[in-house]
Amino acid sequence: MGNNKPIGVFDSGIGGLTVLSKLIETFPSENFIYVGDTLNCPYGIKSPDEIASLVTRITKYLLSQEVKAIVIACNTATANSSHLKNFVNIPVIGVIEPTAKYALKMSKNKNIAVLATNATIDSKSYNKIIDRKFLFKKGQKYFVKCSEFVTAIENQQFRNDFSYKLVKDKLDFLSDKNIDTVVLGCTHFGLYSSEISKVLPKAKLIDCGEPTSKLLKEILVKDRLEADSYRNGKVIITTTGDPLQVEKQITWFDKEHQAVKKIII
Ligand code: DGL
Repeated sequence: MGNNKPIGVFDSGIGGLTVLSKLIETFPSENFIYVGDTLNCPYGIKSPDEIASLVTRITKYLLSQEVKAIVIACNTATANSSHLKNFVNIPVIGVIEPTAKYALKMSKNKNIAVLATNATIDSKSYNKIIDRKFLFKKGQKYFVKCSEFVTAIENQQFRNDFSYKLVKDKLDFLSDKNIDTVVLGCTHFGLYSSEISKVLPKAKLIDCGEPTSKLLKEILVKDRLEADSYRNGKVIITTTGDPLQVEKQITWFDKEHQAVKKIII
């Protein structure tokens, strides 16, 4: 008998759906409950205490839904989640460690740019893994605060003149730095792949979905938490904001799911 309880996934808004998408592809038999904290988005310009308290509230909500594991599909929340181990006794997986390690492995010249929210960059969570000079003497690392991208993405500004200019103005200084790997250190930025690749066409973009899915797989197997493989999982998407607005924001999300539901955390 498998464990058919849902897996909780959360983000400050719609960005974590880029991770959920990959999780659904990797785990078709699992049930997922996604929380997008649209009401409090963006997190990236809040203080560590404010973010940690929102992370607690969402986690408590997910625990009340009897999830068997939690994926923090938000770098900013991951960077402010170390307190969860004090009251959570199911596996909690953040996106930063698997993504940073994967980027290091993929980069050949070790010239790496990490694009993330202001709060993620300030937390130095990526630096601790990627900027280990004693291990990787060669290569330059760039940690770029890009919180303004989040607001633009939540406002559905992508693949248009505004978004291409926004990204070009911000990242143009990297274009002659021979960067071979760009870490999308914010789950919203998967939606800016086209904009970022236009400025840095030779760089490989690493998003959090794949490395996080691999880590979740290891944990589900190790802890014997996998769902029965003959079943099709259900996907519930919830928001702390306006569900109708969220439906409009996520027309790009092509995975089957129930109508977006409003929750209070
Ligand atoms: N998607 C989030 C991340 O991965 C944060 C966006 C925000 O600032 O709310 O960091």
